Amino acid sequence: MLTDKPSKPVKFGVIGCGAIAWRYMDVFENLKFATVIAVADIDLKKTVPWSKKIKCQAFADYRNLLENKNIDAVIIATPSGLHAQIAIEALHAGKHVVVEKPMAMTLEQADAMIEAAKRANLILGTMLNKRYLPACVFLRRIVEQGRLGRLLSGSVSLYWYRPQEYYDESGWRGTISMDGGVLMNQAIHHLDLLLWYMGNVKKVHAYRATLGHNMEAEDTAVAILEFEDNALGTINASTCAYPKNMEETLTIIGEKGSVILGGSDLNGFRVWHMSGAATQSAFNAMHKLHIPKWYGHYKAIEAVCLAIIDGKEDAIKNLDGKPALELVHKIYSGSTIMKPEIGRKESME
Ligand SMILES: NC(=O)c1ccc[n+]([C@@H]2O[C@H](COP(=O)([O-])OP(=O)(O)OC[C@H]3O[C@@H](n4cnc5c(N)ncnc54)[C@H](O)[C@@H]3O)[C@@H](O)[C@H]2O)c1
Repeated sequence: MLTDKPSKPVKFGVIGCGAIAWRYMDVFENLKFATVIAVADIDLKKTVPWSKKIKCQAFADYRNLLENKNIDAVIIATPSGLHAQIAIEALHAGKHVVVEKPMAMTLEQADAMIEAAKRANLILGTMLNKRYLPACVFLRRIVEQGRLGRLLSGSVSLYWYRPQEYYDESGWRGTISMDGGVLMNQAIHHLDLLLWYMGNVKKVHAYRATLGHNMEAEDTAVAILEFEDNALGTINASTCAYPKNMEETLTIIGEKGSVILGGSDLNGFRVWHMSGAATQSAFNAMHKLHIPKWYGHYKAIEAVCLAIIDGKEDAIKNLDGKPALELVHKIYSGSTIMKPEIGRKESME
């Protein structure tokens, strides 16, 4: 794979120039061996900051961007329901693809994307930026080294707040086909990390409901998980935590240690109960790091560039978006949908 090495720097196109695309602006300002040469957004106004700052081409139709033969790779940062279609077209046009999370809305879409990438012999990565954050990487290493012993349970608690206006201001948000709810949009990073640490999930029991918003998908979900490795887990996720984001934690309990990963953007540990001086001093050093908001995206795009330039496929092993998508769908199919119509109407008035 990756026999045709593009000349350096890697030339990117960005499709979708909304909220998250600003983070890529920081990434490309700091990444030396990559550059953006074209952007596209159906709302051309959104491309203006890019064309002003980077002096790149700007299109309203992403198909025009895909025609540019100089582009090696595209970043797809459109509403999630468009990821699959645009990714497949980009792969057919010979571009490597990095798609924002979630990879796609359905497993069928994800499989079609993977198939298109295989056929074209091109990279397909999902932006799982939290996998590159130092505290998350550190915990993965600790787990791999067996420092926590046999893992017994793993839990995600995500209590965030999104006001109704957040869902109302863009027609795609909170819809089942274009965005999904708290599991598919907000918690997908944390589900991905849970799988990264705990391994595959065998069985799921869950409830999901739309409790505090007028939207199609769920704003609250609770799930009990049985992992393949004889461990248990829970997921508590909600965007109803009025008046502001309250908690974002992953708790891992092992026979020889227990940790709670948390802090702002999972940048540290709330609890660190583990023996061993080496682990403690590595932990102390990690806690002194200052991590900019765009760091996870930066490291992920850097990994993609390495894979493109040097054929280092190993560099992108953390960009597999399908396991987390599979877990969301396992939760969907293993869950009871609660419909508290009366409660919701009263609280919305
Ligand atoms: N990795 C993260 O931490 C993170 C954070 C936020 C959002 N996201 C993901 O990024 C994606 C975009 O989210 P956002 O918050 O930036 O949304 P947004 O609505 O702010 O931006 C989406 C942009 O896509 C444009 N667009 C829509 N249809 C298009 C098309 N056919 N061609 C080109 N452009 C099109 C819109 O005009 C808009 O500017 C979503 O998939 C979301 O889940 C990821």
